[in-house]
Amino acid sequence: MNIKIKKILLKKNKSKIVCLTSYSKVIAKILDNYCDLVLVGDSMANVLYGFKNTHKITLTNIIEHAISVKKGLKKTILIVDMPKGSYSNISTAKKNAKLIIKKTKCDAVKIESNKKNYDIIKNLVKEKIPVMGHIGYTPQFTKKFKVEGSTLIESKRLLKEALHIEQAGAFSIVLECIHPDTSKLITSKLRIPTIGIGSSIHCDGQILVTDDMLGLSGFYPKFVKKYVNLNRIIEKAVKKYTRDVKLRKFPTINNFLNGTKRRKKNRI
Ligand code: KIV
Repeated sequence: MNIKIKKILLKKNKSKIVCLTSYSKVIAKILDNYCDLVLVGDSMANVLYGFKNTHKITLTNIIEHAISVKKGLKKTILIVDMPKGSYSNISTAKKNAKLIIKKTKCDAVKIESNKKNYDIIKNLVKEKIPVMGHIGYTPQFTKKFKVEGSTLIESKRLLKEALHIEQAGAFSIVLECIHPDTSKLITSKLRIPTIGIGSSIHCDGQILVTDDMLGLSGFYPKFVKKYVNLNRIIEKAVKKYTRDVKLRKFPTINNFLNGTKRRKKNRI
């Protein structure tokens, strides 16, 4: 097993696993100093591409962004989301997961559960492809954005789903928008780490969409803690720049590649 993946498994019941998303080298380089795991999520559909849902993100989109992210990472595990439709059957899943790994040099892929694609996970793992599962709110298959696992029946169903994913060989599992009691139950019953998003402190680790926690995306459900309002900071900078250009305060002689050096005589 990939040594980096092993390290994640060993964190279960010992230390919390820190995860964030990234779609570019610039952000990945910062995350690399802090995160255990970076995910190139198909949330890029909403955040970067302005789509209503994640369905239109293609394999090419994901691969291009993951190549960029990989350039920013030295030690952190890189997980790449498999887009909707890219793992609809075993042979398609194998072909596409191998392509993602070959092109991006990522450590693992993540696939969302549709409550029956356990064989896909099993077959990817058989091919030595580490897989992260994803249950609860799964944007590729669920329409309604709501808390899952609030009733006993739902809770039992989610636990069963999580156990199936573990048995299929996944090395960890994202719990998205799952009721705290249910995420606590699942986390206690699974040997693999659970990574929560909107699923309470009980999970073994946490993940957020980086653009949400930085106050950039404009999408702030209650479970997102906005650590900074980058929108406001960027707007201030753009406003200043606009004023400088209009008032001819920018550029000055210092904003020239050669600074104040005099030009050579014969050159225009
Ligand atoms: O696409 C994504 O960013 C995700 C996280 C929200 C877990 O799947």
